[in-house]
Amino acid sequence: MRRHLVAGNWKMNGQVADGVARVEELAGLAAAQPAACDVLICPPATLIVPLRGYVSAGAMALGGQDCHHDDSGAFTGDIAAPMLADIGCSHVIVGHSERRRDHGESNERVAAKAAAAHRAGLQAIICVGETKTERDAGDAIRVVTRQVRESVPDGAGAANTVIAYEPVWAIGTGDTAMPADVEAMHNTIRTELAEMISEESERLRLLYGGSVKPDNAVELLAIEDVDGALVGGASLKPADFWAIVRACPGV
Ligand code: PGA
Repeated sequence: MRRHLVAGNWKMNGQVADGVARVEELAGLAAAQPAACDVLICPPATLIVPLRGYVSAGAMALGGQDCHHDDSGAFTGDIAAPMLADIGCSHVIVGHSERRRDHGESNERVAAKAAAAHRAGLQAIICVGETKTERDAGDAIRVVTRQVRESVPDGAGAANTVIAYEPVWAIGTGDTAMPADVEAMHNTIRTELAEMISEESERLRLLYGGSVKPDNAVELLAIEDVDGALVGGASLKPADFWAIVRACPGV
């Protein structure tokens, strides 16, 4: 019912030559071993236009890593959602924990960014996830439920929104959440979404993120209610990223 989505978040890595080489390698892998899921690359903003020609030829989409909550204006250094749409993006990540942590982004701000993405015709990938302290205190479910409630804007539905559950302590650490905990959290998120957006919630995709690697992808992607992955570190290595793509059920 829900087609899996595997998204690569390259974060602040790479110059044009690196990005082109990576995408060319991915295109080769895609031709040899087709994906059974949707594949999205979120490179640094500077690489979106240079990569566009390579990506459009294959089965991959391009997305931004963040957008501003206004459509234009005096916001030095920011990128607006319509600008991402204008250069060929179909998606944008909002509320990644690195932005929440380093740029003080609140749930309300994340909801405003997601709403801006929707206005621009982009799918918003809204990130949520608890810290280690919150999990150790037994607070993970409450924190993430609140993030979902406050970070998902009115008008969200399966066509314009993806939720990525990324436990903060699992990002870039090599620690992955236990499959049972991932399953419980994804169930919780879908139950919360059911109250917010009713029947749309069944079709909305929930991704897991946090140290997804080729050797844990099969297990994580087989979990009920896990509809794909948001991949950081491993997305910088084409062979690893493609192994995760190929780990989606249905290949
Ligand atoms: P990671 O990052 O795969 O390197 O843990 C995930 C993310 O930040 O989206």
